[in-house]
Amino acid sequence: MCDHCGCRDLTPIARLMDEHDRLRELTGHIRSHLAVGDDPAARAHFEELLVVLGPHVAEEEGSLFPMLRRSGELADHVTVLEEEHAGLYDDVDDLDDAAAAADGAQRWRDGVQRVLEDLDRHMFKEDFGLFPAALATLDGADWDAMEEWKQAHDAPAEPLGT
Ligand SMILES: [Fe+2]
Ligand SMILES: [Fe+2]
Repeated sequence: MCDHCGCRDLTPIARLMDEHDRLRELTGHIRSHLAVGDDPAARAHFEELLVVLGPHVAEEEGSLFPMLRRSGELADHVTVLEEEHAGLYDDVDDLDDAAAAADGAQRWRDGVQRVLEDLDRHMFKEDFGLFPAALATLDGADWDAMEEWKQAHDAPAEPLGT
């Protein structure tokens, strides 16, 4: 976590990083439950993870990414991260199909592990790449615009995949 660079001091980025911390906390719970075969508890925590992840991705794509795309040198990186979001959505959708299959329980567990691994890698890129770049690129007016976007979109959380 890049606490040293000052990301934690700027409200919108601090909020996104706090959400990453919560997502990592939940992935830890899910993995622990899967390791001991407690699928119902893993499912409950996975549902909770989706409730955090949905609005988090919405803020990144609706507010932060468009601002960073204005800076030509970050545009390609933002595109990669958006594609990773789409991949996560697809993989979460596939979990519903997996659960309905004859060997659904194992396919669901394997699918969840893949989603968590992809999410770990994605958050690492944002924590150590995108967020420090945002700090270097954006200014006070941009942070204000992010806050306004957040307040305008602070509807009840939509879980990812719904
Ligand atoms: Fe993201
Ligand atoms: Fe993120």
